[in-house]
Amino acid sequence: MLMKKPVSHSKLDHAAWIIRSGGLVAFPTETVYGLGANALDAKAVSKIFAAKGRPADNPLIIHIANLSDANLLAKNISLKSQKLMKTFWPGPLTLVLKKNKIVPSITCANLDSVALRMPENKIALALIRKSGVPIAAPSANISGSPSPTTAKHVLSDFGKKIDLIIDGGSTKHGLESTVIDMTSKIPVLLRPGAITQNQIEKVIGKIFLHKSLLGSSDKLNSIKSPGMKYRHYAPKAKLIVYIGKSELVDKKIINDSLVSNQKIAVVSLGKKIVLSNKNKISISFKSKTEMAKKLFSTLRSLDDQKVDSIFVKGIDNSGIGLAIMNRLLRASCGNIVYCRK
Ligand code: TXA
Ligand code: MG
Repeated sequence: MLMKKPVSHSKLDHAAWIIRSGGLVAFPTETVYGLGANALDAKAVSKIFAAKGRPADNPLIIHIANLSDANLLAKNISLKSQKLMKTFWPGPLTLVLKKNKIVPSITCANLDSVALRMPENKIALALIRKSGVPIAAPSANISGSPSPTTAKHVLSDFGKKIDLIIDGGSTKHGLESTVIDMTSKIPVLLRPGAITQNQIEKVIGKIFLHKSLLGSSDKLNSIKSPGMKYRHYAPKAKLIVYIGKSELVDKKIINDSLVSNQKIAVVSLGKKIVLSNKNKISISFKSKTEMAKKLFSTLRSLDDQKVDSIFVKGIDNSGIGLAIMNRLLRASCGNIVYCRK
């Protein structure tokens, strides 16, 4: 069922009742839509894995609305972790911590760690509070496809397979939360997001970037964050990332689109790449923030338009650029063109 806007208190009471009864509710967060269930109910959590077709070794993030719940779900929370929570919660930052026994092992895919986040989205917070339980929620998409940034995306992936979808409009950031592993001596950034390395280092000092962050999913071998090893974010169309000096990339993309008789879309940041063939689509974003916000919905919309291949012009890794490139390289499944003279 789709719960249309505006989302009233009584509607949210009903959603909270579904969560408490062991059902699945998709809800908006400031990053992407989540597919939620009671994190402490193993049977409810198993429904998330089944609905998404998610491998059992890929753990879920638990969403909380009160700082004190972190102590219930995790143990040995360090001073650095507490600083991050105080600075960035509620917001798009997930901390991987030592797990407490209360969390069923299915939620954390049998790991001894647990991923926690306090979302900033008002509907998400109200749903968690009204449910009275922490909510485990991966992105509300079928495993492997681009994450959902609108209720319509969730509906198109799951239809009637889940109990309820709450429509809270388009999400604010458009990319999933930053994930940082706080269980090692020097924290490790496992997934880049809207909260950047720079912002984190200003609060807790040096952190490491996991070595696979800018790898494509065909090459990933380390499984610190199990989700990193799977094909991810990929549209049905073949996605190719072009990397190199701006003029060289433009030239190569124009040439490749010219010689191809497929339906092609070109995606870039800044100046639009002008294509002479009117049947080919060229999309450009004004800023990295806009690119992050609209990337997944653009990939989904190009699939709806039955595009065969999407050529994306790579961007620099500063700020949210790292998160954008991380998602693009994973979605490319190794289809990367390096443009050198
Ligand atoms: O923004 C977000 O984080 C969204 C919204 C709904 O909150 N959720 C989300 O969940 O992106 P999901 O399941 O699509 O991605 C969670 C990532 C996966 O890569 C998973 O492997 C990692 O977090 N993760 C979860 N628990 C972990 C743990 N205990 N240790 C290491 N990585 C973990
Ligand atoms: Mg996901």
